[in-house]
Formats: sequence, structure tokens, C-alpha cells
Amino acid sequence: MAPPVLVTGGAGFIGSHLVERLIDAGYEVDVVDNLSTGSLANLRVARGRGNRGLHFHKLDIVDGDLAALMGRRQPMAVIHLAARADVRESMLDPLGDLSANLVGSLRVLEAARHTGVSKVIFATSAGVYGAVDASELPIREDVVHVPDSFYGLSKDAVLGYLRLYRDNFDLEYTALILANVYGPRQGMLGEGGVVAKFAQAIASGSPATIIGDGSQTRDLIYVDDVVDAFYRSLEQGGGLTLNIATGIETSIATLHKEMYRIAGCDYRDPRYVEAVPGEIMRSSLDARRAGWYLRWHAATPLERGLEKVLDWYGALRRSSQIR
Ligand SMILES: NC(=O)c1ccc[n+]([C@@H]2O[C@H](COP(=O)([O-])OP(=O)(O)OC[C@H]3O[C@@H](n4cnc5c(N)ncnc54)[C@H](O)[C@@H]3O)[C@@H](O)[C@H]2O)c1
Repeated sequence: MAPPVLVTGGAGFIGSHLVERLIDAGYEVDVVDNLSTGSLANLRVARGRGNRGLHFHKLDIVDGDLAALMGRRQPMAVIHLAARADVRESMLDPLGDLSANLVGSLRVLEAARHTGVSKVIFATSAGVYGAVDASELPIREDVVHVPDSFYGLSKDAVLGYLRLYRDNFDLEYTALILANVYGPRQGMLGEGGVVAKFAQAIASGSPATIIGDGSQTRDLIYVDDVVDAFYRSLEQGGGLTLNIATGIETSIATLHKEMYRIAGCDYRDPRYVEAVPGEIMRSSLDARRAGWYLRWHAATPLERGLEKVLDWYGALRRSSQIR
């Protein structure tokens, strides 16, 4: 069996899908998670596939003894996903965000460098860019970063630490800037939660809520494609920060209509509530660099990805159920 890979936040939405992929590929996987937003239920599929290869450690990255764990397990790489992935919460509690997202990341880096881990792969967010001029869409990695939330700011600061750890301590890294990820098991709060919210509304037959007028756009990327980028980063992409996205803008209003069409359910008008000040109106990321360096591309068409989410929520009409 290949040496273990340690995944922080592995019981979360993206993490649990990644753990399944690693187990399927024959890796032993150590999951570190404090279960604040993740759950053991998220790891049920992974357990079923490779029970002996999966080790769960209920540990907080901020104050848990990560060095002891990494020293004992000697992972070949750490994939660092654990975070408070909530922009609004970061604005209410900047110190809590700093602790989980910056101090926690530093604890991961410190433990990795003192135990001889060779690579850290970091999940970061389009929030590091802040609002950019429409002429700069889709956003490239070399645009000036002006984060407009504490979440974006702390995620951006980690990029600087990754560079310095590589230069000074020989700890390799790849940082993946994820667009709005969606897929089964996603919570309602996270960054791409709009797909989960709409799917749940359709499943329950209640109207969905749209914040603002629905003209704001997002770059929606399916979770399996994101997992594939992390997987490829185990061997490639050293010293690089790469956008992981489709480059396609979808408006929230279009997404809403499309999901009803795919579900095959009677359309219900959404409820509109007032826009949140400072909300980014247009978003898309240029992922060509990931194509060059990871040989990666977003393989899942939006319709197919939405179909899988709707199926997971039980929102597909029987006749159109996917196989
Ligand atoms: N979902 C998206 O659209 C998206 C977009 C961009 C970036 N990201 C990033 O991807 C990563 C995973 O996001 P997700 O959507 O799966 O969120 P998630 O909340 O489902 O997963 C985060 C996991 O980290 C765990 N965690 C949080 N704080 C911890 C701590 N202090 N110690 C140990 N574990 C802790 C949680 O319990 C959870 O299992 C995050 O770093 C997030 O910032 C997500």
C-alpha cells in the first residue's frame, strides 16, 4: 500500500469526496477533523470502500497535537482543507476566522515541516481576489489580490506562508483556488451552498430564496472535478497557485430555472430578499494554468452535476432519475 495521505477537514463536503478518491486509488488516509461542520456520516461511503485504509482522528488543527500525529503516521503529503468556510461568519467574527484559517494553517505547516512531510496541498478560495473589474473576468492567478472579506484575507495570507515555507524549509506546496464548488453532501452555509439550497427547496416543494435580483453570476464547479485537481496535485504543480474552475459564468436566476427543468418538477417562483451589501456581482476564474501544470480540466457539464445533486436530495422525478 502507498504511504498515507493526511487530509485535514476530511469529514467535510469536499474532504469526504477526496477521501473516497484516495481510498479507491489505494492510499491509506488519515483524516483530521474537529467535526465542527463535517460529520462521520460523510465518511460512510469511504469506510465502506476501504475500512482498513481509513483512520479518523478527531482533532482541532488550532490546538490539537498535529506534530505527534504526523510524526507517528509519516504522511507523504498533507491536503489541508480544514477551515471555517463561511464568508459571512468571518465578517461577524474576524478573530475566530483568523484562528481557524490562518493560525490553524500555520499549525499544519509547522507540524509538517518538523515531521519531514514533503508536500502540503492547500484549498483556498476565489475570495482571495476580492471584487475585480468585469474586464478582468475570467480572473487569472496573477491579478492583484484585494480580498474583501476576512475569510479571503486569511486564506490569502496562507499563500504567503506557503511560499516562505517552501523557500526556507524545503516544504513543497500547491495551492488550489477553488471557484464555487457544488455536489452531494454540501452544507447550506458554505461558499457554493446555493445549489444545495435550491435542491433542498425543490425536494421539499417550497419556494427557494434568491438574494438580490438573481443576476449575480458564479463559476460553479462539480466536486468530483475539484477532487481530481487535488489528486493530481500529489504529484504535480509544485510551488504553484492554480485556479480550479470552469471559467463559465452562470447567473443565480438561470441556475434556479435550470434546476427545476432538470428535476422535472413544477416550477415555483422564488422569494427575493434584499441584496447583501458588498456581494460580488460577477465571478469566474481562468483555469488554463491548471490545465498546463496539472493536465486538469473541468470534466463535468453543469447539467450532469446538477442532476447528481438533485438525485442526492431526492428531488428528481422518478421518470428522469439518473442511473
Ligand atoms: N465549498 C466551496 O465552494 C469552496 C470554495 C472555495 C474554497 N473552499 C475551501 O475548501 C475547503 C473545504 O470546504 P468545504 O466546502 O468542504 O467545507 P466544510 O465545512 O464541509 O469542510 C471543512 C471541514 O473542516 C473541519 N474543520 C473546521 N475547522 C476545523 C478545525 N479547527 N480543526 C479541524 N477541523 C476543522 C470541519 O468540521 C469540516 O469537516 C475549505 O478550506 C474551504 O475554504 C470551499
